[in-house]
Amino acid sequence: MYDVFSLPPVTFPKGFLWGSATAGHQIEGDNVHSQAWQNEQSPEFYKDDPERRVRAPSGKACDHYRLYREDVELIAGLGHQAYRMSIEWSRIEPDQGQWDHAAVAHYVDLLERLVARGIRVFVTLHHFTHPLWFDQLGAFAKADNRRYFERYLTFLLPKISSYVSGWNVINEFNQWGGLTAGVSIAPLKFNMLRIHALGYHLIKQYSRAPVSSAHAFIHWFPRRFNDTLDQRMTAFADFTTNEFFFHALRTGELVYPNVDAEYDPEVKGALDFWSVNYYTRHMVDARLAKLDAPRFRHKQLRMIPMPFYLEEMYPEGLIANLERLRDYPVYITENGCCCDDDRFRIVYLALHLSALHEAIERGVEVRGYFYWSLMDNYEWTTFLPRFGLVAVDPHTYQRTPKPSGWLYREIIGANGFSGATVRRFLSELPTLPLSEPHGQRD
Ligand code: FCB
Repeated sequence: MYDVFSLPPVTFPKGFLWGSATAGHQIEGDNVHSQAWQNEQSPEFYKDDPERRVRAPSGKACDHYRLYREDVELIAGLGHQAYRMSIEWSRIEPDQGQWDHAAVAHYVDLLERLVARGIRVFVTLHHFTHPLWFDQLGAFAKADNRRYFERYLTFLLPKISSYVSGWNVINEFNQWGGLTAGVSIAPLKFNMLRIHALGYHLIKQYSRAPVSSAHAFIHWFPRRFNDTLDQRMTAFADFTTNEFFFHALRTGELVYPNVDAEYDPEVKGALDFWSVNYYTRHMVDARLAKLDAPRFRHKQLRMIPMPFYLEEMYPEGLIANLERLRDYPVYITENGCCCDDDRFRIVYLALHLSALHEAIERGVEVRGYFYWSLMDNYEWTTFLPRFGLVAVDPHTYQRTPKPSGWLYREIIGANGFSGATVRRFLSELPTLPLSEPHGQRD
């Protein structure tokens, strides 16, 4: 285990913005008009887990839609200066063309309260969920459907833009389809780049706040370092999930293997910052159909007893990846660790902030950091992974900050930290036990 107690002191640049992130569907509860809610009701959703040991519907999630006033106080009490949240399109437009004004008023009240508490708000306009009716029309896979998104944004933006300090049009579309979708995913990726650009230019009509789309920055790594095919497939994985996105936004050129490249001037330069979501390193094994290989075991975080959440912690990846993004300012819009043992979260946080500081020293203009997530929440199919700085009681929804939440408050207050700060919140380093058989992916 890394010796976080010996980390050298670091101070972040003046004005560095510290916050946390959530997404509507994961915390609000009763998001009944969304496609995600509908999927969670279908037997198909539980086919690999009929006993529902892992999978669960989102239900009340964290009951945040009801408890949002208290949550604003919680965010402020933890010293956060910024908060990244998403607005649920399916609440605002539950039926095609029908606007729910009470839902608009709800979000305006939430935004107003955050701003009144001095919190700078970053809003994500599409964080994986959308109205069921939009899904039934083919969602973003049909190029023509972008007009529905445009109509929604045209309705919403003037009502909220005065509260917003930063924008994400879409969350993480760069990784949709994964590694094995092949050429069939290219039209969707091209569409998404255009929809991002549409959102970017529309927001510009209402807001001076910076705009981007959050990018899942996966650090791909060859399973066998000297194996040419592993190296090539790693480069392929990196291009099809990371570089195609950067390249398109920088140049307007939409490039994907095995399809004719296209040029779209609207896409070129359609960003004001790089919005980076960074978690772990992923191994690429060219000899596996799925390409996705087991991580190095000796560095795996012991998180929760679920094979797909045994990840390898790799803070250095943050430095290596950010060095590719020197042409615009950067905000880390997600970075976090799911574990039942909060000590791992403290270690993860300290190491990643230390790496982030090194990226800044190397000249990357990082302006802020949003920890994922403010509180334990619904992780798309399950409640088991707990990413929160704050625990949420699944029955009473009572919020209880964890030691990591208090450490983070201290870091924010000092705009930096050292190994000695960490020591005050962590009496001893957790040990990384060898992975149990359930942790093996192969
Ligand atoms: C990201 C998602 C976010 C959350 C974290 C753990 O990919 O944007 O909603 O699920 O992973």
